[in-house]
Amino acid sequence: MTAISTAGRPTAEPSPDILIIGGGVIGTATAYYLARAGISVLLIERDHLAAGASGVAAGMLAPQVEAPFDDPFFNLTLLGRAEHPPLAAALFEEAGLDVEYRPTGILRIALDEADRAELQRRLRWQSARGLRAEWLEPDRLGEREPLLAGAAGRLLAGGLWLPDEGQVRGTRLVQALAVASVKRGARLRQGEWAVSFETRGDRVVGVHTPRGLLKAATFVLAAGIWSRDLAGSLPLNLPVGPVKGQVLMLRALHGAPRHIIWTGECYLVPKADGQVILGATEEDGNYDARPTLAGVGSLAEAALEHLPWAGSFTVEGMWAGLRPAAPDRYPIIGQAPGFANLIIATAHFRNGILLGPLTGRWIADYIQTGAWAPELAAFSPARFLEPARDGSV
Ligand code: GLY
Repeated sequence: MTAISTAGRPTAEPSPDILIIGGGVIGTATAYYLARAGISVLLIERDHLAAGASGVAAGMLAPQVEAPFDDPFFNLTLLGRAEHPPLAAALFEEAGLDVEYRPTGILRIALDEADRAELQRRLRWQSARGLRAEWLEPDRLGEREPLLAGAAGRLLAGGLWLPDEGQVRGTRLVQALAVASVKRGARLRQGEWAVSFETRGDRVVGVHTPRGLLKAATFVLAAGIWSRDLAGSLPLNLPVGPVKGQVLMLRALHGAPRHIIWTGECYLVPKADGQVILGATEEDGNYDARPTLAGVGSLAEAALEHLPWAGSFTVEGMWAGLRPAAPDRYPIIGQAPGFANLIIATAHFRNGILLGPLTGRWIADYIQTGAWAPELAAFSPARFLEPARDGSV
């Protein structure tokens, strides 16, 4: 099959089996697992790799700290976390890049009695599930995290220590996935904008770009917040919108935290090179990916109120990213309703880096076997087609 440009000129390159739209963690992970299976892949990205939410993510692998209760999403995030250590090792081998996977653990600080009660409730159900979690009274916080020794810890209401949480560097992960994919034969094109889909019946036959029509057998839409516009050309309702997150890049001159520290209002993530990421705001519906004084100011205030020693950290930069989110805040992964050869993978909200590799592997498995992982049943795009409870659609 030869790709035909809109001007009627055939493009020189052969059409891939799979065309992926989006060069964030989900797109590049999908390209990697497909290329590993020997499937021909072309990934197009309108900007540059990790230009969206993946490039701003703090890189936490943190299912336990974020989970208020045990549900199918929590199971998904645990599986997502388990994916990272072997992937980091494989990417180091294949791409020669350290994605900075570190099982640094997270110390979730309780700020008051209500917080303490809630975290102790989480401790109970997570321990009952066999997950590692430990309660630290205020005077023991310093044993785990020297910056919280003495008065700094006694002002807090205790903490939940979660030793199995970890982190990677989001940009490094995307870069390593891309390098390893290309080494295995995938093609990646940056600066190539997918404008709209071309369909025939219930099949997508191509994607229009300013350079022409790109054809493939199967398409994967993993374009973050921009997925909605592209799906709209089908037409398909894909209710994904931005939840802006701002972060400050800091450096601790006299010792960074040993672990990720999370107060509920902000988090500090110590990276392998000594940088510390302070995040993050949640600004619903905001499409402007620039940091604002109010945004970074609120982060600084949240950190200084409960972690005053962070006041000596120097500021190296400030970033903002647009997390793609569905109305129910769960990911959308699966076949597009009404289009047999279109797969949707977006709306990972706060969990793109955590779930990206698992999402990519499961999409590659689906493409090879025709069967979705059963754990994805609750996250299908079809959930937005279901009639409302009162019978209206
Ligand atoms: N995963 C943390 C955040 O989105 O801020």
